Amino acid sequence: MSEQNKKIALITGANRGIGFETARQLGQQNIKVLVGARSEASGKEAEAKLKDEGFDAEFVLLDVDNKETHESAAKFVAETYGKLDILINNAAISIDETDENGAFVPASKTSDEVFRKTFDTNFFNTIAVTQAFVPLIKKSDAGRIVFLSSGLGSLNLHSDPDSPIYNYKVPAYDISKTAINGYAVHLAYELKDTNIKVNAAHPGSVVTDMNPNGELTVEEGAKTSVDLATLAADGYTGKFIYLGEELPW
Ligand SMILES: NC(=O)c1ccc[n+]([C@@H]2O[C@H](COP(=O)([O-])OP(=O)(O)OC[C@H]3O[C@@H](n4cnc5c(N)ncnc54)[C@H](OP(=O)(O)O)[C@@H]3O)[C@@H](O)[C@H]2O)c1
Repeated sequence: MSEQNKKIALITGANRGIGFETARQLGQQNIKVLVGARSEASGKEAEAKLKDEGFDAEFVLLDVDNKETHESAAKFVAETYGKLDILINNAAISIDETDENGAFVPASKTSDEVFRKTFDTNFFNTIAVTQAFVPLIKKSDAGRIVFLSSGLGSLNLHSDPDSPIYNYKVPAYDISKTAINGYAVHLAYELKDTNIKVNAAHPGSVVTDMNPNGELTVEEGAKTSVDLATLAADGYTGKFIYLGEELPW
């Protein structure tokens, strides 16, 4: 593929964790990666590491919680590339508190502040980022939008006593992911007659700063995001996916 025809991907929270590895794996596919990060220092550091590995990477200031940066990032992409092929809404926070025994504070006691802060980043402001870029994704001939969700957002799994997550409840985080799943389904419906595919990803339980006790490497954890970002024209839309398998909402 010529440099001019290169696909352009923007990943939020690409300075570390699954987002950084997703940038690496897209770079390996000769996709230009825009390294979204809220800190210029860590975003530029990530850009430099990716470039050192030979990938086409560029830092873009994007704080999910600051709409001015959504606008400046979208303006930059519009003026520089005229379109966006892939948006990966990867950035998120997990700030549920634990009690003295290390157990997550249950739903009846989770504070309003924790719910609101979590929903601001993981839901409302993730929607705002998406809305800022949909006009540019419509200019791509094969737009792909990925929402990093979590198996912990699945109401079906949470309400099934036989499910492995039945006894693992992180209320504000889990429900913010349920909510973003709902948005993914509605956006996929809205765009169903376009060439844009919208899907939600569960990366697995991945060792990162957010989940030090995870089981998978970031290489494995980024795979679902990369698959959904590079789906073929006859690929699905409006699904919740983990390593190619559909999860229940
Ligand atoms: N790890 C897992 O087991 C697991 C499981 C299921 C789902 N997920 C999901 O996978 C995604 C990536 O998680 P991770 O494990 O890689 O987490 P992580 O290592 O904690 O990284 C989170 C990333 O999000 C960024 N971020 C947070 N708030 C931001 C904001 N307001 N604006 C811009 N960037 C922001 C962080 O940037 P800073 O460095 O500036 O803080 C960081 O780059 C998340 O959506 C998470 O919910 C992870």
